[in-house]
Amino acid sequence: MASLVHLLLIIITLFTISSISSSNPMATKDFILSTLGHTHDSITFARFAQRYGKRYESVEEINKRFGLFTDNLNIIRSTNKKGLSYKLGINKFTDMSWEEFRSNKLGATQNCSATLKGNHKLTDAPIPQTRDWRKDGIVSPVKDQGACGSCWTFSATGALEAAHCQATGKNITLSEQQLVDCAQAFNNNGCQGGLPSQAFQYVKYNGGLDTEKSYPYKETDGTCSYKSENIGVKVIDAVNITMDAEDELKHAVGVVRPVSIAFEVVQSFMSYKSGVYSSDTCGSSPMDVNHAVLAVGYGVEKGVPYWLIKNSWGTEWGMDGYFKMELGKNMCGVATCASYPVVSA
Ligand SMILES: *[C@@H]1O[C@H](CO)[C@@H](O)[C@H](O)[C@H]1NC(C)=O
Ligand SMILES: *[C@@H]1O[C@H](CO)[C@@H](O)[C@H](O)[C@H]1NC(C)=O
Ligand SMILES: *[C@@H]1O[C@H](CO)[C@@H](O)[C@H](O)[C@H]1NC(C)=O
Repeated sequence: MASLVHLLLIIITLFTISSISSSNPMATKDFILSTLGHTHDSITFARFAQRYGKRYESVEEINKRFGLFTDNLNIIRSTNKKGLSYKLGINKFTDMSWEEFRSNKLGATQNCSATLKGNHKLTDAPIPQTRDWRKDGIVSPVKDQGACGSCWTFSATGALEAAHCQATGKNITLSEQQLVDCAQAFNNNGCQGGLPSQAFQYVKYNGGLDTEKSYPYKETDGTCSYKSENIGVKVIDAVNITMDAEDELKHAVGVVRPVSIAFEVVQSFMSYKSGVYSSDTCGSSPMDVNHAVLAVGYGVEKGVPYWLIKNSWGTEWGMDGYFKMELGKNMCGVATCASYPVVSA
């Protein structure tokens, strides 16, 4: 009898060990170190894999990811040595190649149909020195677009959620998936990209955008299943900022509300960690911009003026999901393709 219990205990223990090794990221860490040996970089890589719950199933995969990781680490280290106004750092993307990142986050670059003359009305209202709409409680939490080029839908919902909160005093979270699935007639392409201004136009002509809860995000293209009874917001109009008019953009962000913008993401931006980002390789023409985000404020840090911008790559990226971009040079095209919605209260 005693030996039977003993046997049972052994079986249970073995079972537990084997299920730990297949589900616990610790196992990945040990597997990595036994594959790569204990070097400074392999230990850094193993810690990274553990922290972000990475699963590498084979020796080939570990070698490939470690190679990409060290490439990115070299960029991070050499950039940080330059003493620029921003820092790069390890994040969940550090084991990805630029090509891989670009194809699953940014989609194809497209002509952002910049507006030569926008319809934003400049007023005499004094523009505040600094602005952070988060302090007014109208900026919704950071979301994560995952592996789908749907940045434009997150930029649009972020702008609409802020506009709705400003108009009604109520927080709401809105459906990106409806924009992915239903807004093609307005020159948008789901996970292959689109534009916030065209998303606002779709919502205006459609008669509304459903709530997130009723039409949840799926991270992939799907069939349109919008239901008018689940509408969370109605758009009256979309207002465009004149192309390249960064002062006009500052007026809009300063006195109106958060504004959807687009810019060109280049490789170093993948690893952005903190500070005021700038780049001498990104472009600023309507054909260069490849990522839509939400400008929620501006300010000056150590003498460098910046835009405060909400991204859609989760809260673990950048500064809790936000970044700062140099202001005043149309850096990476931040003022090339900007617009904001007017919603009904
Ligand atoms: C981009 O779009 C604008 C406005 O629709 C158009 O005038 C311009 O020729 C386009 N540029 C390219 C390179 O397709
Ligand atoms: C705003 O820009 C979009 C393209 O991004 C364009 O379709 C729309 O007509 C513009 N609206 C106004 C009022 O200029
Ligand atoms: C709305 O959410 C923001 C944070 O996203 C919060 O600061 C604010 O208090 C909320 N407002 C209401 C009315 O719940």
